[in-house]
Amino acid sequence: MTTPHIILADYPINRPRRLRRDDFTRRLVREHTLTVNDLIYPVFVTEGTGIQQQVGSMPGILRYSLDTLLPVAEDCVKLGIPVMALFPVIEPSLKTPDGSEALNQSGLIPRVVSALKKRFPDLGILTDVALDPYTSHGQDGVIDDDGYVLNDITKDILVQQARVQAQAGVDILAPSDMMDGRIGAIRRMLEAENLINTRIMAYSAKYASGFYGPFRDAVGSAANLGKSNKMAYQMDPGNIDEALREVAADLQEGADMVMVKPGMPYLDVLRRVKDAFRVPTFAYQVSGEYAMLQAAAANGWLDLEKVMMESLLGFKRAGADGILTYFAPAAARLLNKA
Ligand code: PBG
Repeated sequence: MTTPHIILADYPINRPRRLRRDDFTRRLVREHTLTVNDLIYPVFVTEGTGIQQQVGSMPGILRYSLDTLLPVAEDCVKLGIPVMALFPVIEPSLKTPDGSEALNQSGLIPRVVSALKKRFPDLGILTDVALDPYTSHGQDGVIDDDGYVLNDITKDILVQQARVQAQAGVDILAPSDMMDGRIGAIRRMLEAENLINTRIMAYSAKYASGFYGPFRDAVGSAANLGKSNKMAYQMDPGNIDEALREVAADLQEGADMVMVKPGMPYLDVLRRVKDAFRVPTFAYQVSGEYAMLQAAAANGWLDLEKVMMESLLGFKRAGADGILTYFAPAAARLLNKA
């Protein structure tokens, strides 16, 4: 047996695989990691007691009444999830063209917020500021005869909605409506009311997306919305410079944190926003993203745990400081086990 003669120059100079060989070096050189501190859990709340209603298009996601939500909140605390985001499922009989139920101080959201803050003071609570769960037409604001969402009237209603939520004790207001000037108007209201510590996470770059479909089923706005869309206020998916202008405006108007939404198809936007502003930046892995991963996993086409963790890490790599994700408890469980 003769050893084959190999010319030295044929050896690779660099062998990046060395650092990939063992778990310890992989962990040692890992650039980005996901922790439970990065997670915000969006939940759907409804009236009644004992309710745990499966959302058809979102396997594993339920609509809860306050009593059944309490153990979910407790679970978040135990898992170390910093924030829970509330989305209301409003009874159809309470929906009106101007969404006035959103201003009801003893409405569903204010009641749930104050109950949660009382029971779990250390769990951050975030609420959506937008009228779509409350309007009979499913748009995020008041519409004219042509179905066009009127900016300034809507903005004034959103300020009142934000006041009701803030007075109920919410920690973070998250305006998701995309009306012009609403962040500044909400911030001025908060200062005037001496609610100086209420934080604002602005849905700054929110795109008119097909990925919100299952969410609209969950809150029951899909049928109301019918064939109309939100393109006259949510952003055009082709735009990225505009996202930077939206973020700049929201920061100038008093946002503490900004968000890009949806998530996975907009990681480039997330990266640009993070690089340009260096402020706390969040991504929303929306209902449709959750649904597609679940659907593929249910078919045996994808390994759910793997794609869940990989997709969440992708947000971190793209610059997110945190992620709103329906996978939050499942991911937290895995992270806590590791
Ligand atoms: C309401 C709102 C939406 C989502 C969050 N807040 C739906 C929409 O704008 O139509 C979507 C969240 C998701 O799809 O998971 N303005």
